[in-house]
Amino acid sequence: MKNLINMATVTFLTLVSSVVIAAPDTTPAQQLQFWSVQAGSPGQSARGKAFFLAKHGKDLSCASCHSESPLGSGKHASTGKAIAPLAPAANPESLTDTARINKWFRRNCNDVLARECTPQEKADVIAFLSSLKR
Ligand code: HEC
Repeated sequence: MKNLINMATVTFLTLVSSVVIAAPDTTPAQQLQFWSVQAGSPGQSARGKAFFLAKHGKDLSCASCHSESPLGSGKHASTGKAIAPLAPAANPESLTDTARINKWFRRNCNDVLARECTPQEKADVIAFLSSLKR
């Protein structure tokens, strides 16, 4: 019986924490600030744009999936699946969830660069995405 109660508690806590993790917990401005501090220098949108469009010695660029204009929807380079716009001006959910941002930076940077993006590269990309206006 005690075990059952413990299991119920664990299940409940897991549900609660997954709801919390999925909720917005940051803003594009906070992300820009955070990664600029980590980098020790402010994100630059022009450098972020060049980084976003470039192929880094492999087949893919960020634009391969997110399109050259992140104000519009992207299309996954291998699955063809639609991807919501990355620019916060076009998609209010973009850059509002720390866990999601970190997860996709890790995965996407590995696909494009075969390594993690540096804090400077992240600050630059976020500066670029935040600078776009509809
Ligand atoms: C192979 C396809 C692909 C490539 C290449 C790619 N991405 Fe993504 N990216 C995705 C997908 C899929 C998502 C998740 C979209 C969703 O959940 O709606 C995503 C999400 C993101 C997010 C999270 C946005 C948010 O807040 O929800 C960021 C940031 C991001 N990508 C940045 C990049 C950067 C920077 C590059 C280049 C280094 C890049 N991506 C290259 C497919 C890709």
